[in-house]
Amino acid sequence: MKVTVVGAGAVGATCADNIARKELCSELVLLDIKEGVAEGKAQDMMQTAALLGFDTKIVGSTNDYSKTANSDVVVITSGLPRKPGMTREELIGVNAGIVKSVCENILKYSPDAIIIIISNPMDTMTYLALTSTGLPKNRIIGMGGTLDSSRFKYQLSQHLGCSPADLNAVVVGGHGDTTMIPLIRLATWNSVPVTKFLTAEQQEKIVKDTMVGGATLTALIGTSAWYAPGAAGAAMVESILRDEKKLFTCCVALDGEYGQKDICLGVPVTIGRNGWEKILDFELNADEQAAFDKSAAAVRNMNDVLKTL
Ligand code: LAC
Repeated sequence: MKVTVVGAGAVGATCADNIARKELCSELVLLDIKEGVAEGKAQDMMQTAALLGFDTKIVGSTNDYSKTANSDVVVITSGLPRKPGMTREELIGVNAGIVKSVCENILKYSPDAIIIIISNPMDTMTYLALTSTGLPKNRIIGMGGTLDSSRFKYQLSQHLGCSPADLNAVVVGGHGDTTMIPLIRLATWNSVPVTKFLTAEQQEKIVKDTMVGGATLTALIGTSAWYAPGAAGAAMVESILRDEKKLFTCCVALDGEYGQKDICLGVPVTIGRNGWEKILDFELNADEQAAFDKSAAAVRNMNDVLKTL
């Protein structure tokens, strides 16, 4: 198995590091446009192989896509990250051009690859990847909800005093500070609704803190977060390569599910060898559906900006 991670910034490098440590593939290519950066980080990671005991061969490449040939999965992290105070949406102009050309270059050498999009604004970049490549919809997957759901579990665990791994909780909708929808009504602690253990104020705070999770970290660190985004990408790669059919909330093309069409938005899907395989389509309550429709409208507005670029 072969995986390529495009973009050797903090998110791409962390994603690659997670993939290598888990030995998800025999070959891993890290590619970046900045001369030497991908080669340097690839070598640095390879120099942990003896210490960590993994066997994945990591190769760095400065924009030479021939090295990525025959990748099974490609993770695209390229583009500018957020600066403090910036929304993900403000990145659209620059990142759209980058993501479109990365997809073209990747498909020249790996026409059968499954593509995971991490670049922001993630929902619109996923839609762009889908519409510009014309690939079957199952092969384009945006990462946002996987990350946001993990952040949601973290926030819940802090209030419940429990392990995040014992929680089931999903964030659907867009991957934006105002477009994501943490479904707290449906979140459970080993099958018991978390709402039984949390006051209304606590629930409100958890939802709010989850929604601004990325912005909070950007303000603290000075740039976008990378540990959880990188780990989220790697978890999706794992489910694809091992055909695990794990359920993640991912940004995928909707065709009537959740009442939406011609848009990529975060919903629970199974992830396996064919990319995203099945959408878990269930009835939201009236408030949740209204929030989902509002989120879709905001993402659709952003998608419309693509036409003006
Ligand atoms: C974040 C970026 C990756 O939420 O969108 O941290």
